[in-house]
Amino acid sequence: MRYPSRVKLVDVGPRDGLQNEKQTVPAAVKIELVHRLQAAGLREIEVTSFVSPKWVPQMGDNAEVMAGIARQPGVRYSVLTPNMRGFESALASRPDEIVVFAAASEAFSQRNINCSIAESIERFAPVVEAARAAGIYVRGAMSCTVGCPYEGEIAPERVGYLAGLMKGIGVQHVGVADTIGVGTPIKVQRAIEATLAHYDLDDISGHFHDTYGQALVNTLASLELGVWQFDTSVAGLGGCPYAKGATGNVATEDVVYMLQGMGIETGIDLDALIDAGQYISDFLGRPTQSRVAKALLAKREASACDAV
Ligand code: HMG
Ligand code: MG
Repeated sequence: MRYPSRVKLVDVGPRDGLQNEKQTVPAAVKIELVHRLQAAGLREIEVTSFVSPKWVPQMGDNAEVMAGIARQPGVRYSVLTPNMRGFESALASRPDEIVVFAAASEAFSQRNINCSIAESIERFAPVVEAARAAGIYVRGAMSCTVGCPYEGEIAPERVGYLAGLMKGIGVQHVGVADTIGVGTPIKVQRAIEATLAHYDLDDISGHFHDTYGQALVNTLASLELGVWQFDTSVAGLGGCPYAKGATGNVATEDVVYMLQGMGIETGIDLDALIDAGQYISDFLGRPTQSRVAKALLAKREASACDAV
């Protein structure tokens, strides 16, 4: 079996990771997190979302965060835009990429964005057209591709159907998301294969939440199919406010450690990444969710004690 020799990770921590936080995270902290992630070698960061602040108050400082980032050449900054209103607000922030987000499950679509799958595609179509006309890359997120908190198991055909709709309106890349982390390797592979009927391998990424501890093995299962792009979240932050009980994405640190061990290039400095995770975990006042960060921080501490 041949794995990809290089993998691109998009850190979604500042957006997916923090969107569900109950305590207010000041814009300055979000900006510092982005700075630390880019200093650690991340080449794409999902910074924020231009959604309704009534629905997701934590992202209400979207424009302020985007304006405060010292942009580094070679780094792409992406934002979520659920409709034209969000896209128009996002434009002033000059994102490199926008993300329209739909679901393979009708019930989740209703709960998350207050409309049916078909209506969401109708809403996205002008957003995609306007973004592409403005030279902004368009990614699509497909939620609940293996399971839904309201409908249970989701068949691969429904993922294929959604991927076809996304393709039809000109979405350039799609993320196959396991929103509630219930997926297991074969099911995740089926969801990706259904997507491959509409998108090239180079235009598909994996987005796995780690609720059931399956996200790393699902990442490996995706690598086996040749997928080489993944969304991950520093310190394993996060969850979706409309997917109760779902925890964060797979920790970026854990994925980087696995890939390094497999000889797969990421361009990311694991030590600097662990420091970025520690920064945000300290702010939130709770330990990192990354197993690798926990292990390496304990090792650092032990060697500091030895040195004394
Ligand atoms: P709605 O209430 O149906 O929208 O919400 P509306 O068009 O009827 O407008 C209602 C009010 O919201 C109006 O204001 C609009 O102006 C305002 P009012 O007249 O009452 O004062 N409004 C907005 N304000 C700011 N920005 C906007 C915007 N749009 C309308 N863009 C809407 C529809 C989509 C806006 C709402 O449902 C929403 O914001 N949902 C966001 C949910 C969300 O962010 N979920 C988390 C992200 S998705 C995710 O995490 C999954 C992912 O990680 C992949 C995975 O893991 O599955 C990507
Ligand atoms: Mg997510």
